[in-house]
Amino acid sequence: MKTFYIETHGCQMNVHDSEKVAGLLAGRGLIPVASPEAADVLLLNTCSIREKAEQKVYSRLGEFRALKKRKPSFVLAVLGCVAQQEAMDLIEKAPFVDLVVGTHRYHEIPHLLEQVRVHGRPIVRIERMEDPEPVEIDTVLRENNFRANVTIMEGCNKFCTFCVVPHTRGPERCRPSWQILEEVRRLVDAGYVEVLLLGQNIDSYQDPSSRKWKFAELLKAIGEVPGIRRVRFTTNHPKDFTPDILAVLERTPTICNWVHLPVQSGSSRVLRRMKRLYNLDEYLDIINSIKTLEKKIALSTDIIVGFPGETDEDFEETLSLVDRVQYESIFSFKYSPRPNTPALKLEAREGVPETAKQWRLNRLQSMQRRIQEHQNRQLVGTVQEVLVEGRARDGEKWFGRTPSNKIVNFDPDHVVPGQFLDILIVGFGPNSLQGQPV
Ligand code: SAH
Ligand code: SF4
Ligand code: F3S
Repeated sequence: MKTFYIETHGCQMNVHDSEKVAGLLAGRGLIPVASPEAADVLLLNTCSIREKAEQKVYSRLGEFRALKKRKPSFVLAVLGCVAQQEAMDLIEKAPFVDLVVGTHRYHEIPHLLEQVRVHGRPIVRIERMEDPEPVEIDTVLRENNFRANVTIMEGCNKFCTFCVVPHTRGPERCRPSWQILEEVRRLVDAGYVEVLLLGQNIDSYQDPSSRKWKFAELLKAIGEVPGIRRVRFTTNHPKDFTPDILAVLERTPTICNWVHLPVQSGSSRVLRRMKRLYNLDEYLDIINSIKTLEKKIALSTDIIVGFPGETDEDFEETLSLVDRVQYESIFSFKYSPRPNTPALKLEAREGVPETAKQWRLNRLQSMQRRIQEHQNRQLVGTVQEVLVEGRARDGEKWFGRTPSNKIVNFDPDHVVPGQFLDILIVGFGPNSLQGQPV
């Protein structure tokens, strides 16, 4: 019997793609193992969103080369966004790689591995599928048995000037609503209590079936599946975040009170140059409509500092936006020049120096840390419903999440992952809460 190991970098979509590939391989009798060293087949699922992520792929491949030397029958496959972007170049840079599979071709992996074995030379399979619907892979080996990732759409048509995703994932492709609902019902029957709906641009979902549902209609139907306890979705584009989504969010109790709404910059001038398709006022209008809901929504966002040509004044506008919105969390990044993107040209002319990027990132993050500490302090003394996820990093405490996606650590009790607990919040840090079961 052969064994396999998948190492996953990048976003939740990649995590879920790896679950699907694991399901395909397990279905063919391969056995998942806990380390690369124990595997006959090693698959590296890669991310290309920033230069660092891509560099990491090549440094990991360098490390895996030694395994290959020790065991010549060892098969090394590269999947994901770097595979899609680099294609043949990857084999040139790392000739010991056996298989390169692009983001549209995962269903072919068992067959491609067989081909590698028979022919004994590297294979590159990165052609895009022309079909407007993604190929269904319904044998998924999931990471846990209480929260399930569910892809509803893949790809992106937006082409923000800094971003590789439309190139690596291709144009938007949506799954039919009936297929998604069937999957969610099956998951609930199997005991899952939470689903995390995934899409690079989830709120632009367009049902390809005759129902022609929009995202809000699909979200409502999923939230009403009998037995489901929590529904989350990520990630939204502000341009597509329409009022009907808010209405569903407000009225459907199972839909968690958390909205991730990436803004990227607080300066309308920078937003235009990023081709984000909204300006600051339009973004703030959405934020205001979210804040006027009766259901209290936790907001999170993504921010890029040091986009080419970003001035100190532009950056100050980002800080003032963050201060105004009071996000519960932000993911912040230094702009990273990416291949085949229009911002590359801007970077050559008016790139922001590394020191300025770093300084801006530090200021933004320390401001956000104070905001989070302030918010978390307010929660001390409240009781929160927590879905238990597992052991915390220290190995002693447990951790779980509130509906608003806050992490709560608590001391051992007789709990199992997937259980709901009421937890009294007794302490806090900038990134998490501490509590006691009540
Ligand atoms: N579809 C989502 C984002 C997916 S990528 C959206 O439109 O918001 C996740 C985040 O990575 C982005 O929101 C952005 O903040 C960041 N990112 C993307 N490209 C980047 C780049 N070239 N440099 C730095 N950060 C980048
Ligand atoms: Fe990238 Fe923009 Fe598409 Fe998001 S919306 S994936 S940032 S191109
Ligand atoms: Fe990375 Fe591709 Fe996801 S670039 S963030 S793995 S879509």
